[in-house]
Amino acid sequence: GEERTLAMVKPDGVSGNYTDEIKRIIVEASFSIVNEMFTQLDKETASAFYEEHSSRSFFPHLVTYMTSGPVLVMLLEKRNAVSDWRRLIGPTDAGKAKISHPHSIRALCGKDSERNCVHGSDSTSSAEREIKFFFKNVVSGDTASQH
Ligand code: CMP
Repeated sequence: GEERTLAMVKPDGVSGNYTDEIKRIIVEASFSIVNEMFTQLDKETASAFYEEHSSRSFFPHLVTYMTSGPVLVMLLEKRNAVSDWRRLIGPTDAGKAKISHPHSIRALCGKDSERNCVHGSDSTSSAEREIKFFFKNVVSGDTASQH
């Protein structure tokens, strides 16, 4: 059946004006955009979202990057949404993606292992957590904007 995942265009993707092209790719790949919102993450929100990485050396820099400008958060739906979105965005390291996955979204708009322009939930359980994190009040089929 249908599955949902959390997608995000990060600050470098938004400031680089990639949101329209990324949304075209999303629709072309047969995802439905169930809900979306532009938001500016503050330090507390970005830290909570990336909680699982809090002990990593890159964490403080990641929080600075993620709070450097607005992001576009999207709730995507399709069959196999989690793995299909991960495949579409390509490897975490956008520098490597440009070589190994030249047609991926990260190859298109990312730069390196941090500034990789998009996010995707890495599992169905992460997707559930991340969707709740941004779209708390969304029940199945409700497409009302939260902000
Ligand atoms: P994302 O898929 O959103 O999940 C965690 C993020 O941390 C990742 O994309 C990158 O933006 C960042 N990240 C992961 N690994 C590194 C790294 N080695 N150095 C810097 N940033 C990283």
